Order: sequence, then C-alpha cells, then structure tokens
Amino acid sequence: MAVLLCQMLLVSAMFDGISSLPTGTQAVLSTSDVEMLPEFGVGFDLTASYGTAAVSFANGTVLSVAKVTAEDGYNEVLRRLSLESSQHLVPPYQNPGDAWKDKPREALRSARKAVGLPASADVGYLATMLSHLKVQVEEYLGAPIESAGVTSPHLVALYQEDLQDAFDHVGLRYLTFPVRYGLLYETSATYAGYDYGLCSDYTDRAACKEEQQDMASEVVMAVGYTGTALTVSFSVVKSAYYLYEPDNRYLNKFTLGYDARSRWASDDEYWVEVAKSLEELMAENPNYKRPAKVLLMGDQVHNAAFMRILEAVLRRQTTDEPEISSQDPQFAAAKGAAELAKRLPYDPYKQ
Ligand SMILES: *[C@@H]1O[C@H](CO)[C@@H](O)[C@H](O)[C@H]1NC(C)=O
Repeated sequence: MAVLLCQMLLVSAMFDGISSLPTGTQAVLSTSDVEMLPEFGVGFDLTASYGTAAVSFANGTVLSVAKVTAEDGYNEVLRRLSLESSQHLVPPYQNPGDAWKDKPREALRSARKAVGLPASADVGYLATMLSHLKVQVEEYLGAPIESAGVTSPHLVALYQEDLQDAFDHVGLRYLTFPVRYGLLYETSATYAGYDYGLCSDYTDRAACKEEQQDMASEVVMAVGYTGTALTVSFSVVKSAYYLYEPDNRYLNKFTLGYDARSRWASDDEYWVEVAKSLEELMAENPNYKRPAKVLLMGDQVHNAAFMRILEAVLRRQTTDEPEISSQDPQFAAAKGAAELAKRLPYDPYKQ
C-alpha cells in the first residue's frame, strides 16, 4: 500500500502542471445556456453545530428544507479552520515558488481522491454534512439536485479548494459566486437571506446590475449564535455581492457557544464574556460607522438573556436604533445562498 501511495503521489505530481487550472468557475453558464435556466437554487449553510439547506424557487418562494446536526468531529474542524495557525498555501498561488512548496500537500490530496477518499480528513467532515443535506433536499424535491451554493462562517483557513473537493466527493457541482472573497461568507448570505442587497428583477441582467451598483453601502453586524460558537462581524456591504470584512472586523469564538456555559466558572462570567465579544469589534474601532442593520443567525439567538445583552451592547454603541433581523435565524444564511444560486445563471457582473 505504501508503495502504491508513493506511485500515486508521483503520478499526481506529474499531472499537477496540467490539472492546476482553477475549476471553481464551471458553474457560470454562457449566454447560450439561457434556455436551460434552473427553476430553483439550492443553498447550504455549513455553520457551527449543524448544517442547513434551503431552496429558492423561480416563483419567489424560498423554503427552509433541512437541518442536520453535526457529527462528532465536524465542529472541531470548523474551530481549527478558524485559527490563523491553520492557514496554509493554496492555489491560486501568490508567489512564484509557492506551487512547488505546496506540491506535497496537493499530491497527497490527489492521491486520496484517486482512491475515492475525500481530499483530506477535514474535507471528509464537510462532505459528510453536505451529503446528508443533499439527501434531504432531494427527498424534499423528489428529484436529484446537481449543484448548490454554500455559505459558512468566515473561517480564515477554509479555502475554496476544500469546498470544491467536498462537493466533488458528494457528486455536486460547487457554485462560485462573484463575491470579493471567493467564498460566500455568512454576513453576505444572511444579508441576502433577509432580502437585502438584491435587485428586484434578476432576470433583467442590465437593470439588475444597475440597481445593485446604485445600492448604498452600509455597515452591518452579523451575529451567529449556536451551541458551539458565537460569531460576530462588523462589516461593510454594498449589495449582497460586495463584502468588506477584513481581519479586524469579524471574530469566531468557539469557547462561547451556548453549550459551553458550564465550562465557565459561573453563568455570570459566561455572559460577561459574551457581552465583551459582542462589543469587542465596535469598542476597538470607535471611529468606524456603527451598524445600520443587525443580522441574527443560529439556533440560540432567540435566547432571552442573549437578546438582552445584545440590545444593551447596541444601546451603548449607537444612539441610532439599528434594524434587527431575526426571523427564521437558523435558515437565513442558507436561504441567501439559495437565492444567489438561483440568480447565478443571470449573474449581473458577468462580462
Ligand atoms: C412556488 O413553487 C414551489 C415549487 O413548485 C411551490 O411549492 C410554491 O407553493 C410556489 N409558490 C407560489 C407562491 O406559488
């Protein structure tokens, strides 16, 4: 087996030169495909604690379809991918020597894929979640699905390559969106899921583009709260496609999920830390514009103590009352991803 693996590493290293073209843009159809436009878009949210799926239909109806609780190990993968220390080289490479330096890692991924394994153990956890969501959406629709859009928390070491490989592993086409970071982060997906930042008639590409370009940019605070994690962003959006969310404008706290309460010395101490985290980004950046909208997601955001703390933080930080969106918070991000997936064939930013 060791010899076989070695051979495969060599073979895949040889093929690397020709197989390293980015594959993430395959979902963008050319104008000649217009007749084959989908009647719906499927969106997944790979968040801490669980994954969700939603479907957006051409008639405008958007439905929450499935929630799958994470298996052991999945949350640990997300936690690890949230750490700067987990970052690594990944294509497309920035510097001349990087492709060479990254060859062993890429070769191992290719070797694993060649024998039908997920590209890495991490990809395996993501793929398992995707496959459960896929099955449930297909059962719901009564038909197979062939592609989906996916959103996730802003995890610094989660790369498009991982999502692409996880989708490949479950036989789904990975849709990529014309968004700044390549990956669709929950701040943008939730913004879209709450019906913000989208043109009124996406089938009219020119009008849609103009409408979205005319949209004002605004500051939003997206807060995700589940049993496993508290995520906070303090970002700038301009339509659902443009997101400005650099390192100092988001945080992921895997020590502050609702289920981690008992690991703190007391409940009070836990809630003090939650309050600090909710306020941290605004407190550290006193000169940044305060959020005009607060977008809530996750299955714990309706917790009464949590809401009281969030409202108190907002009162301290701004005298304008930001609009708080919190309907169907477990599915808001998946719904946004589904909406963008449905609109992708009409991509207004396409040349
Ligand atoms: C839109 O289409 C879906 C799927 O065919 C259907 O379930 C839903 O009821 C429709 N909604 C409206 C408002 O017609």
